[in-house]
Amino acid sequence: MTHDGYAAAYAESLEQPDEFWRRAAERIEWITPPTTVLDDSNPPLYRWFPGATLNTCFNALDRHVRDGRGEQPALIHDSPVTGTQQTITYAGLLARVATFAGAMASLGVEKGDRVVIYMPMVPEAVVAMLACARLGAIHSVVFGGFAPAELAARIEDAQPKVVVAASCGIEPSRVVEYKPMLDAALDRSSHKPESVIVLQREQARAAVGERDTDWEELDWDELVADAEPADCVEVAATDPLYILYTSGTTGRPKGIVRDNGGHAVALRWSMDNIYGIDPGDVWFTASDVGWVVGHSYIVYAPLLTGATTVLYEGKPVGTPDAGAFWRLIAEHKVRAMFTAPTAYRAIKRDDPRGELMRQHDLSSLKAVFLAGERLDPDTYEWATSMLGVPVVDNWWQTETGWPIASNLRGLEPMPLKPGSPSVPVPGYAVVILDESGAPLPAGQEGAICLRLPMPPGTLPTLWGDDQRFVDGYLSTFPGYYVSGDGGHVDEDGYLYVMGRTDDILNVAGHRLSTGSIEAALAGHPDVAECAVIGVADELKGQVPRGLVVLKGGVDGSGAEGERICAELVQRVRDEVGPVAALRQVDVVAALPKTRSGKILRKTMRELADGRTPVVPGTIEDASVLETLAQVLRRST
Ligand code: COA
Ligand code: AMP
Repeated sequence: MTHDGYAAAYAESLEQPDEFWRRAAERIEWITPPTTVLDDSNPPLYRWFPGATLNTCFNALDRHVRDGRGEQPALIHDSPVTGTQQTITYAGLLARVATFAGAMASLGVEKGDRVVIYMPMVPEAVVAMLACARLGAIHSVVFGGFAPAELAARIEDAQPKVVVAASCGIEPSRVVEYKPMLDAALDRSSHKPESVIVLQREQARAAVGERDTDWEELDWDELVADAEPADCVEVAATDPLYILYTSGTTGRPKGIVRDNGGHAVALRWSMDNIYGIDPGDVWFTASDVGWVVGHSYIVYAPLLTGATTVLYEGKPVGTPDAGAFWRLIAEHKVRAMFTAPTAYRAIKRDDPRGELMRQHDLSSLKAVFLAGERLDPDTYEWATSMLGVPVVDNWWQTETGWPIASNLRGLEPMPLKPGSPSVPVPGYAVVILDESGAPLPAGQEGAICLRLPMPPGTLPTLWGDDQRFVDGYLSTFPGYYVSGDGGHVDEDGYLYVMGRTDDILNVAGHRLSTGSIEAALAGHPDVAECAVIGVADELKGQVPRGLVVLKGGVDGSGAEGERICAELVQRVRDEVGPVAALRQVDVVAALPKTRSGKILRKTMRELADGRTPVVPGTIEDASVLETLAQVLRRST
């Protein structure tokens, strides 16, 4: 890039976005290069690079092979849970992707069709994603820790022609069989795919094709054995590349749409400007392909860059110990890594003095990036002092697909401040608004909003629901996108993100909806009313707590109460998934509400966290809070 610093780049990105993004777009190979950069003819909806065409898979694989990177590792699968490692070159990955794309094409998958991918951290998950991109099909990856009901909701909304699954995932404590969960999800969903492809893993092979179903069940290996490689399909920059469902406050997940052109341009720009990663560098993101961090920074950004990505099927601790990340960094000569702060908290808990860290040569490591939840100053200080490299917080969301605020290590490294993800990234006009929509001065806390248009790569809409996009994000303050996070900016322009202003939970960097956990609790026959709140947790940042009012005549005390609470915990595992990590449910006499019937979750959260609650004047019966305070301050 021709900028000589952050300030110049930031100013240009907002004052002359066409010029800024036209230059960034030159690093992507187009079939029809863009002539128009921004289409602003239909506010508040904006589109980037209308009229241009490309193929994302071509940019991630074919062009690198053509340009001489064929023998460079594209992907290193490091899997302590299976005791295996596999390095796949760019040429090797291209061959696998083209063949799997051919296999899907033989099942009728075409441009615009949806494909749901329900797989653990195996190379085939990446192959399936890129094969969709190759065909112009739209993938929707569902995280393996979600239960059948959540998977069914996504299948119902995305209406996939094909579902690709693995027979199992491997957690340190157990083998998680995916196929029975997929079967249960398909039983629940009114939409049925035409085909289901199952990758058999030896840890738990699945029964494939043995049920009498309306759809065909196929074995991945058999299908691929007969397939012809497929070529890249030309798609519009504005065509969807993927849908990634994320949790809102209600139980109904939101299908975040990502386009092809803006996404490729933005992610490629982010790799060197934000992360300081160039072609040939080794980059390690410890997340899951089921989350946005996995989509952007395990799969697309490193491959669009021609870097090597490490796909890690393991945990920060327990596979086998808190030295796992350090072993990976040393063994694969990782230049920079990315994960969620909770992973570092887990390592710090098990190895506070960094003894396992010191057993490895970490000289290749230049920086650590953390996102997904607030990086608390303690964890920041610990990681910085232990590793001796910059530990960089970045703030963003599934909706944006890449960082809104960060310290741009490639463009211009700036001083790091504990508790702050540093400054707005070029392209993002970050503004703090008060309740009336007026901008707030430095130091004052309000709603963190982004002035429209947002940069390329951010969501153009929600799948099949422009209105929900406009109503949910763009209507509160006309001309702005409301992030749902609250915070402030300091005198130096550094942003401080203090947390969600709505009822979305963030558990170990995983975004979860109170609504879907409440729906699971409410489905129990003895429950009259319930509420779920997120309370502070040392390891996971936040964990959910359930509060239930039982139906008249049901005994909520003693052994009977304990049985009901245990059933409720199990229901949430079965309906939402183990990742919800709900361990504590309490029976209470009543829930605090406003006179119009709104449950006061924020007030309860403050009580549970030991803070003095702000009690709204509209509370229906203040005495309910006094009784509840004793329950909320008690944790198991
Ligand atoms: N498939 C099936 N089950 C899964 C799963 C998956 N892909 N991922 C997690 N689970 C299960 C776990 O086995 C666990 O089940 P359990 O209740 O039977 O033990 C439950 O979901 C909760 O998992 P997890 O959040 O991983 O908690 P943990 O207590 O096992 O581990 C950490 C805590 C901090 C080590 C872990 O949360 C972690 O590695 N976090 C990294 C954060 C991250 O990757 N965030 C993504 C966004 S960047
Ligand atoms: P997700 O869409 O799953 O990536 O979750 C996005 C939400 O996680 C944001 O709206 C924030 O509430 C939270 N979050 C992510 N990164 C950070 C961060 N660096 N600091 C504070 N909160 C964060």
